[in-house]
Formats: sequence, C-alpha cells, structure tokens
Amino acid sequence: MDPVVTCLADFEALARGALPPATYAHIAGGSADGQTVDANTAALKQFRIVSRILVDCRDGSTRVSLMGEAFAHPMLLAPLSYQRLVHPEGEIATAQAADALDTGMIVSTLASQPLEAVAGVLPRNKWFQLYLQARWDDTISLVRRAESAGYTALVVTVDAPVTGMRNQAERAGFRQPADVVAVNLPATRDVGQIALEPGQSRVFQGAMLHAPTWEAIRRLLGETDLPIVLKGVLSAADARAARDLGVSGLVVSNHGGRALAPSPTAVEVLPEIRQAVGEDFPLLADGGVRRGSDVFVYLALGADAVLIGRPQLYALAVNGALGVARMLRLVRDELELTMALAGCPSVSDIGIDRLRHREVEPSS
Ligand SMILES: Cc1cc2nc3c(=O)[nH]c(=O)nc-3n(C[C@H](O)[C@H](O)[C@H](O)COP(=O)(O)O)c2cc1C
Repeated sequence: MDPVVTCLADFEALARGALPPATYAHIAGGSADGQTVDANTAALKQFRIVSRILVDCRDGSTRVSLMGEAFAHPMLLAPLSYQRLVHPEGEIATAQAADALDTGMIVSTLASQPLEAVAGVLPRNKWFQLYLQARWDDTISLVRRAESAGYTALVVTVDAPVTGMRNQAERAGFRQPADVVAVNLPATRDVGQIALEPGQSRVFQGAMLHAPTWEAIRRLLGETDLPIVLKGVLSAADARAARDLGVSGLVVSNHGGRALAPSPTAVEVLPEIRQAVGEDFPLLADGGVRRGSDVFVYLALGADAVLIGRPQLYALAVNGALGVARMLRLVRDELELTMALAGCPSVSDIGIDRLRHREVEPSS
C-alpha cells in the first residue's frame, strides 16, 4: 500500500489520479452544481469536540446494537451502485473488506455483482438496499432473494424517485459502460412508457408514473418479516409518519447530495428528527463522513450509526479489497482515538454536550 495513505482524503486524491475523469466526476459529483455535496462536508466542520479529562477508558469499545443486531462499530458501508465501475471485482471485493474489518455492509439494488454472491462473502451484518421497482412482482422477487440470501434488513431508499440533475457527470461526459450493469434486475423491467398527451409533463406523468408512495411502504411491511429502514428522510414529519407506520429505522440522508439540491444536510436536521422519533428509535445518518471525528459528530447529534459512501469507491479503485479494508481500519482507528481523547469510552457517552459550534472565523 502506498505510504502516503494516512487518511480517507488521501484515497480520494489517489483515486482521482487513477480513474478516468468522467468516472471520477460521476462518483464525486452531485446534483446541479454540487452545492449539497459541499454542504455535507461544511456542515460537519461547524463543530468542535469538547473533551472530558481523566476518564478511565480501559473497558472502552465502539460496539452498538441496531434493531437488535450487534455491530462492532457504528459505521456501515453505504449502498453504492455499480461498484465494478472502479474495480473488476466490485461489490465482492468490498464485501471481503467488510468481513475482514467486521463492518456492516448495505448492498445496493443496483449492484454489479449478484446479491447472493456478495452475501456469501459476508457472514453477518449484511443489509439489502431496495429500490421499489415499477412492477410489484419485481420488487417482491428482490425481497425474496434478499431473505433467502440471509440479509437481515431491507433499506428502502425513498429520496430518488427520479434521477436528479447530474450536471457535473454530464459535463464530464460520463456514460455507463455496457459491461457494468444492474445484474440483479431483470433485463426488461420497463413497464412501457405510455405516450404522453399534449400538455403532459415528462416528469410528473412520465418518470414519476410508477414512483412509490406511502402505500407501497405499507404494502411492503405486510410482505416481509425483515426490518424495514427508510433511507433518505430529511423531515421530522416524515420521520414520525414512518415510525408510526411500522418502519424499524431511518437513514437521515440527502443521498450524498445526488438527489434534491439544494436540500438540508443530515447534520442540520438530525437533532429535530431525533426529537420527533424519540430516544430509542434506530436512526442512521450519512453524508460527508471522511474522518472518525465526523462519525463522533453525527453520533453526538443523535445518530446511532453512520454510513460511509464515496470513500469505499475511492479505496476500491486504488487497491481493491485491501484498499477498502485499509479505509475502514483508518476510520475505525480515528473514531477510537477521538473517543479516547474526548473521554468517551463507549458510544453511549457521546452526547450533544460534547459539541460546540465553531466561532465564525473573521474573513481575511
Ligand atoms: C456513486 C454513488 C452511487 C450511489 N448509489 C446508491 C444506491 O444505489 N442506493 C442508495 O440508496 N444510495 C446510493 N448512493 C448514496 C449513498 O448510499 C450515500 O447516501 C451517500 O454516498 C453518502 O454520502 P458520502 O458519499 O458523502 O459518504 C450512491 C452514492 C454515490 C456517490
């Protein structure tokens, strides 16, 4: 491994040099001008961590429990589509790293490897990310396959009923390569677009025609015993509605700035969502996690765990499974160091009282 890799940002710099520019733009970019991608990192930088001194940390650990399932750390690998874009083994290599570092992994509906093969590499802590399909039978077929393969939760992504304006990737000329496909979906999954009448909208009566609604979540809850987590919640009212419907947990997320832009960051809305759902309701969050201290900030704001997105692909591009394992090791070590220095031997010691808003720095 290249000795210059000391933190996750080093992986990004190396990946940027190694990947075709259009592929890098596709991964790094967001919707519109990328303002929400930038906001995610900026939001985390607003905080300082207040340490408490002379705390006995000898029994310290980062262990957490999510919906009754034990995790060695409060970080999971976010669902990322088409991982073979950056490495021939794609999701299989990522899963090997997750297993080696005892880290939870959420496998995307748009994975470029069979969901069963990825599950085969992961003895535990594997969740499946579900995009509800235009045909209900296609959705149920994915659910049954995820159940049989041993996935222990379904993460239903609800913030991307249509693809956002990916101007940065478009400008760079990104095209999906013909050999990197969503292998878990049927080749013909279009329900067939009906011809639009004059005056109808390509978005509302076109792309959104088969987009899921609350009714689909209600129906899905009746179809499976797996816990259902909704990913992409940013409003306290939606969070409460989801909890009341019987959803088991939420991911507070703006999809890494790739869906609605501008939209709030998870950092901004997490405290009000925590308040809305209550202390014990499982809440995960993502966007911009690049340091162990970022994980700490999210936990202090009310998350039980965080998801790590883009750094997976950067590390995978640089050094395959070994790269992803190194990336996970770095962020895990950083979290442990941050907790030790802050005087928080366990995740439950990390509270809002440990955060201070940064003073606004005078402009030079
Ligand atoms: C290249 C790329 C592909 C993604 N694919 C999916 C996906 O298939 N399903 C999903 O729910 N989220 C997807 N996301 C969003 C991530 O799961 C996650 O919410 C986001 O990347 C977190 O922000 P971060 O990259 O700053 O860590 C994708 C994000 C990126 C960058």
